[in-house]
Amino acid sequence: MITAIISALAQEQAGLAQQLINPSTLERAGRQFISGQLHGHTVVQVVCGIGKVAAATTATALIEHFKVSRILFTGVAGGLAHGVKVGDVVVGSHYLQHDMDASPLFARFEMPLYGVSEFSADVAMMQSLVTAAQSLSNSSEQAHSFTVHQGLIVSGDTFVSSARASETLCAALPRALCVEMEGASVAQVCHDYGLPFVAVRTISDRADDDAHLDFLKFVESVAGPRALALVGLWLQCLNDIR
Ligand code: ADE
Repeated sequence: MITAIISALAQEQAGLAQQLINPSTLERAGRQFISGQLHGHTVVQVVCGIGKVAAATTATALIEHFKVSRILFTGVAGGLAHGVKVGDVVVGSHYLQHDMDASPLFARFEMPLYGVSEFSADVAMMQSLVTAAQSLSNSSEQAHSFTVHQGLIVSGDTFVSSARASETLCAALPRALCVEMEGASVAQVCHDYGLPFVAVRTISDRADDDAHLDFLKFVESVAGPRALALVGLWLQCLNDIR
């Protein structure tokens, strides 16, 4: 069983490579794939770059070349739903591409020829991730506890950075908890290959007019360390239930 860990930015998985036992790096499609052992699991970690195509290319390489058996995406997102605050964690149960619109041939948001507009997370991966996130939130090592949400993550090739744009998105997709730029495309690739998938996102902004302010600082100071702790706890959680 090989577990892939993908992030869009290097800062979203900073420090992870240094924790791998017996790391080895292979370059493919312009990306560095680092394989090794972590908490008793064989993992391959990779930074995919930003956007749906970059993420889909990377997921396909992980499956075809590295023969991974499941994929975890970790990174940041903009909060959409009321109560999804900066610093909170969202574990995706469903994934939708909010810029998919082949109407009038297909309903808005429907994936053409799939007959669905959302792909689902693997339930076991999702539940173990929620458990890991909740225990991290309760741990004394965290300066502040945070809320762990579970639900719909929407992805598109836009950094949503105005209150008007995020209100429009919320009106069209009232169940959406947060917005990012990769998750739903990896969910589609995993659906096509029949691989279990889940994404976990720390909320870096509210997808409003201030979304870009301190974005990278937040990723470096909060989201990166959070992802490192969360991935470690999650892999250990998996040890307990296998
Ligand atoms: N990732 C983090 N914040 C985001 C936003 N506001 N829009 C899209 N992707 C994001």
